[in-house]
Amino acid sequence: MSKNQSAPNTKTARVPLIAGNWKMNLDHLQAIALVQKLAWSLKDVRHDFGAVEVAVFAPFTDLRSVQTLLAADKLSIRLGAQDVSPHESGAYTGDVAAQFLRKLDVNYVIVGHSERRHGHGESSETVAAKAKAVATHEMVPLICVGETAEDLAEHGAAAVALEQLEASLHLVPQGAEVVLAYEPVWAIGSGEAATTEQAEQVCAALRTRLSELRGEAEAARTRILYGGSVTSQNVAAFLRQPNIDGALVGGASLDSQEFSRIAQFKKHVTGA
Ligand code: 13P
Repeated sequence: MSKNQSAPNTKTARVPLIAGNWKMNLDHLQAIALVQKLAWSLKDVRHDFGAVEVAVFAPFTDLRSVQTLLAADKLSIRLGAQDVSPHESGAYTGDVAAQFLRKLDVNYVIVGHSERRHGHGESSETVAAKAKAVATHEMVPLICVGETAEDLAEHGAAAVALEQLEASLHLVPQGAEVVLAYEPVWAIGSGEAATTEQAEQVCAALRTRLSELRGEAEAARTRILYGGSVTSQNVAAFLRQPNIDGALVGGASLDSQEFSRIAQFKKHVTGA
């Protein structure tokens, strides 16, 4: 496929993912309380988890408690971690191995969040090694990319995201499932989300690059999320875009009612 063609739109084949990144919030007791409330709220509205997947990304110290609750109550909410070591095991004090996460029934692991790229100086090479570790242990890496305000002014919206995608993906085996999240750094926690036009433009560019790197079929089935100041008020407009398949939600995921409303975005999209 030439660079100017966009990948075919097979949006309907991709199950949207609403992902709550709690960041460094909620101890394990608070985590259990939130997941219980979220589960009740979604049960009340008969949420169809086959139609819209819902996942929470908990701090490491909460994972065991949330796993136990999800299993005991047979909840369909999926479990995610926020980071992982690129190494298998050994002398890496403080790090957590992918195989340990897998044993806790973790489904997804965020890699390359901007708070780690910028706050911890993580390079795309490190992100690539982490993504590989996640995929190797049969979990799905959720790879975050996105530009700072300075990058946006200097290079435009898509350049940094595309560069980070290529550099973060290359160690992941061909065919392994990944989820991408476009999170403009300036939109995170600022209350100022990207416009739907910008988000769609970058997500479409990511899908086209993915097609060049991994082939059309993989690009067509890969979910690409938008993240950055997502709320129940703006989520539907993002999800209406042909290349946006979900949301990575920070602050608003800490409120069970608000996160539940975000997961019900289809009501706003279809007007049903
Ligand atoms: P906010 O939704 O708080 O802007 O955070 C977005 C984010 O960083 C999710 O990973």
